[in-house]
Order: sequence, then C-alpha cells, then structure tokens
Amino acid sequence: MFWLKTKIIEGEGSLKTLSEEVRGYERVLILASNSMKRHGFLSEAEDYVREAGTEVFSIAGLPAEPSVETVEELLPKLREEFQPDLLVALGGGSVIDTTKALKVFYDAPELNFEEIAFIDRFSKPKPVPKLRTPLIAVPSTSGAGSEVSAASVLKKGGIKYNIVTPDIAPDVAILDPRLPRTMPPEVARNSGLDVLVHGIEAYTTNVAGPFSDAMAIRAIKTVYRWLPLSVRGDEDARARVHYAATMAGIAFLNARLGLCHAMSHKAAWIGPHGLLNAILLPYVMEFNANKSEYARKRYAEIARELGFKTAKDLIEVVKELNEMLSVPSLGELVDEETFMEKLDEMAEKAYRDGLVAFNPVEPKPEEIRELYLKAFYGE
Ligand SMILES: [Fe+2]
Repeated sequence: MFWLKTKIIEGEGSLKTLSEEVRGYERVLILASNSMKRHGFLSEAEDYVREAGTEVFSIAGLPAEPSVETVEELLPKLREEFQPDLLVALGGGSVIDTTKALKVFYDAPELNFEEIAFIDRFSKPKPVPKLRTPLIAVPSTSGAGSEVSAASVLKKGGIKYNIVTPDIAPDVAILDPRLPRTMPPEVARNSGLDVLVHGIEAYTTNVAGPFSDAMAIRAIKTVYRWLPLSVRGDEDARARVHYAATMAGIAFLNARLGLCHAMSHKAAWIGPHGLLNAILLPYVMEFNANKSEYARKRYAEIARELGFKTAKDLIEVVKELNEMLSVPSLGELVDEETFMEKLDEMAEKAYRDGLVAFNPVEPKPEEIRELYLKAFYGE
C-alpha cells in the first residue's frame, strides 16, 4: 500500500501559488519562523493571500522546538481572535509540526493531549476524529519531511510525544527553492543528512514497498550527489536537495523509519536532529547488517544504485560523506560524565520507541547502549 494526501507544488517562485490555493477561504492564519519574517517571505506570502481577496493574520517567531506549551499558549488566540478557516505553516519542520498540533486542538477542542499522543510503542492512544481546517505547508528547510508526513512530534516536560493521524498530513505543500537558500551552511548540512537517513531507513524497514522504495532511492541518490554542493550554497543543489527532502518524507510516510531515529529522538538533548542521525547511522547500519540478511541485501541494493556493491561499501560511503562534511562524534558534542549519566535511560527509552517496531532487527536495550557508546567514542 502506498498513499499520499498532500498536493505538491514545486518550482522557483511557487510561493505565489498561495493566491490560488487560498481562494474561497475567508480567514487565513500564517504561522511563521522568525527567519521567514526576516527574509521577507512572510510579507510576500501575506500579499499573495490578500491578492485572493482573503483576510490574512500571522504569528511569527515560533520557537525552534515544538512544544505542548506553545500550542496551549497559541490556541486561545486561534479560537477567540483569528478564527481561521485555513492554516499556513511557513518555516522549518518545527513550525509545521506546531501548526499540525494546533490544528488538532483547534478542530477538536474536546481532546486532551495525553490521550491522543504516542509516548512509546506500548502505548495505545485514542484515535483522533476527523479534522476540518485545511493546512498548507511551505517548508523553509530541506529535511524533516513534515510537509507530507502524518506526524507531529511535540515536547512536554522533557518527553517527546508523537501525534500520528492521516488528518494532520498537510493538504498542500509548496516547495519554493528560494526559501531553503536562506539556510546557513550548518543547517543545510544537518537537515540534508537527515534526508539521507530518512531514505536509508525507509528503504530498510520491514514495511518498505516498491513505491516507497522509488522515493527513498531517488532521495538517497540526490543527497549523495548534491549535498556537499548544497552546503556550499550552490543554488541548483539547494533546489535538488529541497525536493529530495520531500521525496524522503513520502518514503517514510509509508515505510516509516528505524532504530537510528529511535536513538536520535532520545538523544535530542545533545544536538540537532539531523546531525545526531548522521552520527548514529553507520553504527546502526553495521548492527543491522550483522544481524539481518534482509538488511544486508537492502543496503547492497542501495550501494549498487550509487555505483558500489555491498552493504559494507554503503556503510563506508556514509562514513566518508560524514567525514567530508565534518560530522563530529557524540563525544565532541557532550562531555563524558553527562553522557554516561543519561546513557541507560536513553537506551531504555530508545528500546521502547515506536520506530523500533519497523527496524529490520529487534535490538535489546544493552545492544542500543553499546551503539550509543560506539557513537560517543567514534569507534
Ligand atoms: Fe529525521
């Protein structure tokens, strides 16, 4: 099975299609990052909405980390002040995830957060009812895939909760490469590496299928070929990686992700999401390849697409790309004492993460602990 709810509009200057997309709606609310305001894309978007004869409101400066607190703070404004009949998220994955969660509680005020959120793979949340307010996502970074995915990850009291329902997948995604060209090199690197991890993990889960494979492979090949140039600011490379990010999002919307993401989510306190994934990926691949013939076969298939042969080759390719892009070890991001204090808890939580169920190998908590240690010392 393969599905995609989101209509995708891509191309230079495609932000202007917002005019057509909002036609017929009365009150549009745009939620934007500070960076999109600073670079003028928020006011450009507001103009396009006005051109359609639609009233427009905006909230800029959403925090970099989506949290339940932010959603609770903004909800009364949506209900009493703006009362939008269409939402637009303009920014990185965090802005899009926050907007998705806002949509849930705006449309279904009777819900309470704890009862619909996945805390780990053993929790059984209540299903989210049908939601009404449409959502347009305009990503400004090239990584998270949130513009097509059916999930929103939110933090509450140090714990990451996951809301998953097809109803929060955006109705439209506008991919205008001018936006990700504003990313600083480090953000381009970290988010681009996340795309590679999405592709490789989605290709190797136990629910991967031919259509998700096609999206995953194209995303992997694009990152491998174009990410180094994109990091250096090449305009064409930025556009290619931007589209690849959404392709990888479509792959994992269907095929899900695996142990690397389970581990990076629990290590989120150490550094940026994409960077953590890039650090962990070769260790997780080695682990999977050692234990599963299926994983070895799938890694080898990816290797051949890139002009290599075996699973081992692919692991080398990943390590070399990390080296070329100066990806550090975990030990360079956090001091040993702090890391060791949290290690057991991280391993236990990663073991309980929902994504472990899709990994080609079911790991034991001790094995996850070992992988964290290897990534810490850069072995
Ligand atoms: Fe990711």
